[in-house]
Amino acid sequence: MELRELIRAKPVEKSLADTHESGHALTRTLSALDLTVFGVGVIIGTGIFVLTGTAAKSHAGPAVALSFAAAGVVCALAALCYAEFASTVPVAGSAYTFAYSTIGELPAWIIGWDLVLELTLGAAVVSVGWSGYVQSLLKSGGVTLPHAISGASTGGWSFNLLASLLVLLLTAVILLGMHLSAEVTRVIVAIKVTVVLIVIVAGLFFVKADNYSPFIPPAQETPGKAGGSQPLIQALFGYTPTDFGVMGIFTAAAVVFFAFIGFDIVATTAEETRNPQRDLPRGILGSLVICTVLYMAVSLVVTGMQKYTELSTDAPLADAFKAVGQDAFADIIDVGAVAGLTSVTMIMLLGQSRVFFAMSRDGLLPRLFSSVHPKYKTPTRAILLLGLVVAVLAGLIPLEELSELVNIGTLFAFIVVSIGVVILRRTRPDLPRSFRCPWVPVLPILSVLACLWLMLNLPVQTWWRFLVWLVVGLVVYFLYGRGHSRLGRDADGGVEP
Ligand code: ALA
Repeated sequence: MELRELIRAKPVEKSLADTHESGHALTRTLSALDLTVFGVGVIIGTGIFVLTGTAAKSHAGPAVALSFAAAGVVCALAALCYAEFASTVPVAGSAYTFAYSTIGELPAWIIGWDLVLELTLGAAVVSVGWSGYVQSLLKSGGVTLPHAISGASTGGWSFNLLASLLVLLLTAVILLGMHLSAEVTRVIVAIKVTVVLIVIVAGLFFVKADNYSPFIPPAQETPGKAGGSQPLIQALFGYTPTDFGVMGIFTAAAVVFFAFIGFDIVATTAEETRNPQRDLPRGILGSLVICTVLYMAVSLVVTGMQKYTELSTDAPLADAFKAVGQDAFADIIDVGAVAGLTSVTMIMLLGQSRVFFAMSRDGLLPRLFSSVHPKYKTPTRAILLLGLVVAVLAGLIPLEELSELVNIGTLFAFIVVSIGVVILRRTRPDLPRSFRCPWVPVLPILSVLACLWLMLNLPVQTWWRFLVWLVVGLVVYFLYGRGHSRLGRDADGGVEP
């Protein structure tokens, strides 16, 4: 085995030609608006509805709005790189496909494997959050699920039936075609954006200037965490992330980063977009800008309604309204959160199925998963297998602990895409780029550094889990993908493995 084999890159022209392969081609139906709606559909979710509370209360105070801005800037750097790539190589698979065109097959495989953390695990984690919200709504209507099917993490074994059912239902939706998925997303996004706007507008009436003082609370010595729960930066360099003060804004930015995950998933629908060169950059950047503005506004309003020290960490938005005696709004917000998490789960599943499809079309996973259904025009086998796996995961495994793996998986993909942009500019300056990321290579380098900074803030145990996952991926590649790679087969003169 030669190193050259492992880093053989797939020519962009070949990736583009594959999108027309009979029986393995998707159809182009999506517009720029659809993509933006998809983006907003997958971005707004747990992050704003839940994490705002912890980020403000424990790390940044009212300045959490600046944390959202900081995380938004980090994502914007990566988003500009994604936008250039997506406009140059508009092929399903997002970061996986981009890596295959630039760094080579093994790195591409690793990224594809890594995206499972963002997409499969992400979908499962968010569906469990969805189930929690639905159960709290049911409870306020007087209905409590029996322990055995509630997914409760305490009091003995319990299956999370609602989370599992949600995943199966959404699997059916994405199976039946992109048109239906886009319709469903439009309705859900309309509901959740309305709820977010209600929070902003109604909340403004209850804002008290006193609650903003101090806007940036004085920095506090944070007792360092020990063992696996300490951030890697502390374990390596002895730097303990600060709470509050200016540095606290950045500590909170690492927490709210989760709220931005998803704009990159827009790129997985590249092959189903009517005019991908023009519309993918619009969808990716448009959804990110919309969500950043909404997040900053929501967090400013909520920290203005209630003193940051009193914010709830479970349901900060709803509880801020309860704190000012507006319980009716709290129910509306819960409905918005349920709607929000539904589309996040759905689009993560959808994104994963397209990455899975792209990897299977390249032969790195069994080819049967890339056959497209003649009527629904979706990779039905990939979707079915994925839906079943996520439904079981969501039902059986207590996932809260694993949610940081979603962050590390996503940040790793951002880094690879940012590096990929610089490489592709050097190796293929001739390719038409309808969107060009500004200030290359400075901006991609800043993107890499910013993502690394956020990764360093993640706990040591998350890093270990991440490394174990990647090692499992390497084993799978050497046992299966390397021998079945279509690119490898072509290089060997078309010999079947
Ligand atoms: N950004 C998505 C959320 O906050 C993953 O739920």
